[in-house]
Amino acid sequence: MIIAIDGPAASGKGTIARRLAAHYGLPHLDTGLLYRAVGAKALENNVDFDDTAALAGIAAALDLAALDAEALKAGPVGEAASKVAAVPEVRAKLLKLQQDFAHQPGGAVLDGRDIGTVIAPDAEVKLFVTATPEARAERRFNELLKRGEEVTPAAVLEDIRRRDARDSGRSSAPLVQAPDAQVLDNTGLDVEGSWQAALALAERARAAA
Ligand code: DC
Repeated sequence: MIIAIDGPAASGKGTIARRLAAHYGLPHLDTGLLYRAVGAKALENNVDFDDTAALAGIAAALDLAALDAEALKAGPVGEAASKVAAVPEVRAKLLKLQQDFAHQPGGAVLDGRDIGTVIAPDAEVKLFVTATPEARAERRFNELLKRGEEVTPAAVLEDIRRRDARDSGRSSAPLVQAPDAQVLDNTGLDVEGSWQAALALAERARAAA
């Protein structure tokens, strides 16, 4: 069983994906980490974001086992990730790794932007998790505050809007809802409510598969 969870930044898709993976006993891949790892390496090595060959080289050398999720979630990396994710050569280098993960025996849960559309269009369960930019910005702001980062609500909302525009507007595998995905808008829901709604949708799709 493949479970594909897509949606914009700070929609809560990561939490849903982790919990679905635990619930069904499936391995989970947060595919945003791959783009974050490429972005972080590019920043570290002062690689120009226009240098597609160098970015593709970084992507090709990526080691899944060596990804440090905690470090990759930090502020500036998200912006870099969003830029490298718009580069088709980078996406091409990361394609097989993600498809292999999705199609391992027994199945898997993947979350990202293009799982239900590009990586695993054959997924039995497809959720598109979303919320208003304001709701997502509020969640991200509280997360960053807790981590001790110095941010303002306005700057976080601006950042969310910029990333939405880049993720949705790029020509290569943009963030779009798969026609056969079930939409979960969790704007008015807390984490528990969002999880219960996601589980109900997943169960419904499993029963239909
Ligand atoms: O979900 P996230 O914030 O960790 O993702 C970081 C960036 O990577 C985001 O700007 C979009 C991009 N991304 C993508 O293009 N495709 C994916 N499958 C996952 C993430």
